[in-house]
Amino acid sequence: MNYQEVLQNAREIINPKCKVCKACNGIACRGEIPGPGGKGTGSVFVRNYEKLEEIKLNMDTLYAFKELDTSVALFGKRFKYPVFAAPIGALGLHYSDKLNDETYSRAIIEGCKQAGVAGFTGDGVKAENYEVPLKVIEEAGGCGIPTIKPWGLAEVLENVAKAEKAGVLAVAMDVDAAGLTVLAAAGKPVKPKPVAELKQIVGSTGLPFIIKGIMTAKSALKAAEAGAYGIVVSNHGGRVLDHTPATIEVLPEIAAAVGGRLKIFIDGGIRSGLDVFKALALGADAVLIGRPYAVAAYGGGSEGVALYTEKIGSELRDAMMMTGAAALDDISQEMVYLK
Ligand SMILES: Cc1cc2nc3c(=O)[nH]c(=O)nc-3n(C[C@H](O)[C@H](O)[C@H](O)COP(=O)(O)O)c2cc1C
Repeated sequence: MNYQEVLQNAREIINPKCKVCKACNGIACRGEIPGPGGKGTGSVFVRNYEKLEEIKLNMDTLYAFKELDTSVALFGKRFKYPVFAAPIGALGLHYSDKLNDETYSRAIIEGCKQAGVAGFTGDGVKAENYEVPLKVIEEAGGCGIPTIKPWGLAEVLENVAKAEKAGVLAVAMDVDAAGLTVLAAAGKPVKPKPVAELKQIVGSTGLPFIIKGIMTAKSALKAAEAGAYGIVVSNHGGRVLDHTPATIEVLPEIAAAVGGRLKIFIDGGIRSGLDVFKALALGADAVLIGRPYAVAAYGGGSEGVALYTEKIGSELRDAMMMTGAAALDDISQEMVYLK
């Protein structure tokens, strides 16, 4: 199987909800929720993509070449690339019933593991939306990160304890889920979380805790105060609030506020290894990719997911060679063109 075949298979399965466009940029699916689009006008999904497109790479091939090292150390482990599959929940609603919580998370978790990286899993209104993917992670030797919705404290603490028992790499919470229309429509809305409650949640576990859905330096500092291991600079792929900036636009300010103190992940519109390079140049430690991993899972199962990861990894390697970065720590802001 090659990546073109993965895309062709996906097109047959998830069209018309996702059109599997040549560029996954939020235009054809604008405002389509249920579906993979952005909320309201859909402008945030489009902006995430376009602002990354505007950044270019500064080429430099006048140096003594060394073997490239694309690996990153996180959660006390080493991953082949600084790339993780983002959590995607409610597959049937947004893509197709062809995959469910179990088969989808199996494709993501196993495919990422095969490719030397790891996947996040999602959560939903039914307990099984969290528990089934968690079991898949456990069966993969714990190689994954479950993401809990900001439900009430007792339910969150229970889910964190289950994650710990499953031996996962880390646990995450998408604190921006208060803006999800589908949760409210299903009768289980969630609300913003105060720092004191987050502190209690983080303090309840020895697992690294990742707060997903941070868009300002102010929020990032609150995540640090809560004791988080890391944050995901994310606007949920434009699905929780219309008219926010793109994630790549706010990354430098957030990195200046908490870089070195918290691990910084970013997602939203990252579509190539070149985009991964740009995110690292502007202060991220690693990235999450959402919709393209969903397409890879529908089109090729775990093999499609592994193939897609390798594609991103090889593009990252190319970007590093052509700019003079032998390792991820060498990637710096001067290597990108921002004018
Ligand atoms: C259909 C769909 C379902 C999602 N479900 C979840 C979820 O359950 N939990 C979560 O934290 N984020 C969820 N997200 C957001 C992604 O994790 C991620 O932040 C976003 O898709 C990144 O942008 P990208 O798709 O442009 O790469 C979902 C996104 C989509 C498109």
